[in-house]
Amino acid sequence: MTARMLALPVKIAFCVSLAAASLYGAARAAGPDMEAGRALFVGATPACALCHTLNDAQTSGAIGPKLDEIKPDAARVETAIRNGIGQMPAYTTLSDKEIEVLSTYVAKATGAQQ
Ligand code: HEC
Repeated sequence: MTARMLALPVKIAFCVSLAAASLYGAARAAGPDMEAGRALFVGATPACALCHTLNDAQTSGAIGPKLDEIKPDAARVETAIRNGIGQMPAYTTLSDKEIEVLSTYVAKATGAQQ
């Protein structure tokens, strides 16, 4: 087999992996802060996931509004986390950094304006 005959399958394999990577990116937003935000969404006490549906985090809580529908911007998420709202408790044990990461994550994951 010559090098020329090998080149085409390699190119095809490369294109397929690029397409797979972009499909993955569309379904779940990537990046270290997105991972950290997702972890907080399901791991904070009590977990946001218990009460909220958020497709990106694959949660289906139904006590609070579906975040994918209300698409809150980061400031609105932060206010809810800091002060609580209705049945939602205020989160007094999260650090400022955690609140920032979580708020940005929810806004980005729902496609809200930043
Ligand atoms: C015990 C259930 C519960 C938990 C846990 C919870 N929420 Fe909520 N959340 C609610 C309810 C209920 C509302 C609607 C409150 C209302 O409008 O009266 C709400 C509202 C919101 C809103 C919309 C606020 C607005 O301005 O309308 C956001 C954003 C939100 N929650 C994000 C979060 C995040 C992020 C977490 C985790 C840190 C979380 N929630 C944890 C129940 C919960």
